Amino acid sequence: MTITTEDRKVIREVFELMEKKTTHMLPEVMVNPVTKYTSAEQVQKEIDVLFRKFPLILGHISQVAEPGDFFTHDTTGVPILVTRTQSGELKAYLNVCRHRGARLQNEPCGKARTFSCPYHSWTYGLDGKLRGMPHPAGFEGVDRSQLGLVELPAWERFGLIWVMPSVPDHEIDIDAWLAPMAEQLTNLDLGSHFVFRKWELPKNMSWRLLLEGFQESYHFCHAHSTTACAGYLDNQSVHYNYGPHVRHSLPQPNIEALRGKPEEEWDYRPYFLTQNYLFPANFVQVQNDHVYIHTVIPTGTGTCVFQCMMLTPEEPKSEKALKYYTKNYDLIRIVFEEDFVIGEGIQKGLNSGANTGFTFGKYECGLQFGQNAIDAALEGRLKI
Ligand code: FES
Ligand SMILES: [Fe+2]
Repeated sequence: MTITTEDRKVIREVFELMEKKTTHMLPEVMVNPVTKYTSAEQVQKEIDVLFRKFPLILGHISQVAEPGDFFTHDTTGVPILVTRTQSGELKAYLNVCRHRGARLQNEPCGKARTFSCPYHSWTYGLDGKLRGMPHPAGFEGVDRSQLGLVELPAWERFGLIWVMPSVPDHEIDIDAWLAPMAEQLTNLDLGSHFVFRKWELPKNMSWRLLLEGFQESYHFCHAHSTTACAGYLDNQSVHYNYGPHVRHSLPQPNIEALRGKPEEEWDYRPYFLTQNYLFPANFVQVQNDHVYIHTVIPTGTGTCVFQCMMLTPEEPKSEKALKYYTKNYDLIRIVFEEDFVIGEGIQKGLNSGANTGFTFGKYECGLQFGQNAIDAALEGRLKI
């Protein structure tokens, strides 16, 4: 793991801010209307735009390492089948048969040579082409080349699988989209990591509330007073807004060890937590020696699903390593739950009328950047 140019910039900036006894602040507070969290119309628009027309992280490349490996994904409301062809290409399809629409693959994951529909056994290749059907005489004259599986845009970048859950009407440049985060994500080498844990939690809160829990550190020493607080300098964050993505770096108390050291001797990762927001609802949360990948997906008004993968640099080989990562996993589940309990509590109070808007403070830069990017996408000003 090397230290990047941007990592050095973050460290310099943290020291400067500490010297001035301040932290990253935006010029203004921002008021976000509460209706954004309660309106059925709003959430439907968000699903239609943010969760259809932008790429979401749906997995790790190890889940489809070999030709024929597949997994299905339904949380977005779109039935998705992700697989790898014989020639090694990653593909995502609508998990829907082209005969009369049956769900093609019911297993959550597995290995297949072809996909055969459970209804009348129309069979598709890994490349999505319609290969055959029983009693084909009854379909004479039908152009089979038009009845392949419907393909969705899918990419493997930085060891992760990204899928856009709709058929686009234009060419998409994923590399340009992720370019501002590329140096950092490349440096993480997530492709060689191991999926140590993978879990999914339905929550009774707007997806926005869940998202916001990962966009500021102002709450750390309050909501996480006995867990995460001690691990970080209180309310001392550096944010880089790459509209729409945001890098949020949180220094740990041990950063003092770098003070006065020549820059060539600096290291970054042992001294920071980095929460990378990748628009619209993905996070790459970088800990000292492992990484969490989250995707937050709305499932209705005031409900969402939190999906998470814990990636470790390798499969734990010793009892000691296994214990170490298990302990970290157990702790993060507690910390995340502290956020979720608060989020579900907020949701319950939303209709009370106590607030017509939420006040995003000058410290809560990630909230302001994130909301601005979401608004831009919903108003058609931001597109991939
Ligand atoms: S619906 Fe799939 S084969 Fe008939
Ligand atoms: Fe939190």
